[in-house]
Amino acid sequence: MDTNVTQLATLFQPVRLGPLTLKNRVVMAPLTRSRAGAGDSPQAMNATYYAQRAEAGLIISEASQISQQGKGYAWTPGIYSDAQVAGWRLVTDAVHAAGGLIYCQLWHVGRISHPELQQAGGLPVAPSAIRPEGQAFTETGLKRHVTPRPLTTAQVGDIVQDYAHAARAAQRAGFDGVEIHAANGYLIDQFMRTKTNYRTDLYGGTLENRMRFLTEVAQAVLSVWDADRVGVRFAPASAANDIADSDPQTTFGRAVEIVGGLGLVYVHIIEGQTGGPRAAIPGFDFAALKRSFPGLYMANNGYTRDMALEAIADHRADLVAFGKPWIGNPDLVSRLRNHSPLTVAPQSAFYGGGEGGYTDFKRLDK
Ligand SMILES: Cc1cc2nc3c(=O)[nH]c(=O)nc-3n(C[C@H](O)[C@H](O)[C@H](O)COP(=O)(O)O)c2cc1C
Repeated sequence: MDTNVTQLATLFQPVRLGPLTLKNRVVMAPLTRSRAGAGDSPQAMNATYYAQRAEAGLIISEASQISQQGKGYAWTPGIYSDAQVAGWRLVTDAVHAAGGLIYCQLWHVGRISHPELQQAGGLPVAPSAIRPEGQAFTETGLKRHVTPRPLTTAQVGDIVQDYAHAARAAQRAGFDGVEIHAANGYLIDQFMRTKTNYRTDLYGGTLENRMRFLTEVAQAVLSVWDADRVGVRFAPASAANDIADSDPQTTFGRAVEIVGGLGLVYVHIIEGQTGGPRAAIPGFDFAALKRSFPGLYMANNGYTRDMALEAIADHRADLVAFGKPWIGNPDLVSRLRNHSPLTVAPQSAFYGGGEGGYTDFKRLDK
């Protein structure tokens, strides 16, 4: 038999994800587009954009802050107020009407923010008072990051409660599940990794202590959602947002073991530098993470059609998430299936703006 036909059959075959049946294994990765409306609420054009991409086996929403404090970029949507729930309901209804499924990515940026984005111009928070290199994207332009305010032990508990609140909001908004964003140098990653966690309380020091915040956040989300509707995203080899770890294989080996023990339905792994080289940490063993996780393994980062076909056929991944290709190709699954050319969206369209560069990319069959 022609191997390519077999491979195609596998990538485009339905797969079970907890109680859901995904119609294929091509996932839309979370993509911040900075186009929320007033009050950080999704609006009609966001519903149009997501519904256009409903042929994905699963859509993961753009990262959505669990509180004002969790916000780090201009015009990103929240998932905590009633108005935001109503806005997201437009999105989930439109996706479901188009035959799709959508998870909500729950986000707290920690130190990757700026006083302009915080309530009353306050300082962003973090495990420790370590200023990140880089700049925040605010409504008035790029601003150098500041030294964050280190959280007290009690304040860490308050944020765990904010995750539970946001998880409930996601349920009320009609999402099919949630993804805990523990990647890319944001708050959970800041607790897990050694470069950003100098704490001496229960949330820092030993590996188990660095894992405590992840564990408590996952437990808080599981107080709302069944485990078979909760996934988590890690970026073990990524330095995104000025982060690093002294022993990433051990750190993320343990993180995956913990979420596996809690019964989460998938791990979503950014293999390499987010949006960059896949071999960012030479020798990092992603296969070991997959082997140690009982649920599904979702692979991401720089996947092409051929790479996705091979990864699924070789059982190196159960699902493949594509990011940038979804921006310019609302019919990405059809294009991959038919081996059609892909539209490359210009970077200028990524963040902020209106319908242009957002809902106006055409399907090939229209
Ligand atoms: C415009 C843009 C926005 C992104 N927003 C998010 C996000 O909200 N949450 C997240 O976890 N990753 C985000 N990412 C990372 C992508 O999900 C993905 O990991 C990355 O683009 C690599 O996959 P790709 O090579 O298929 O694009 C974003 C990437 C881009 C280009």
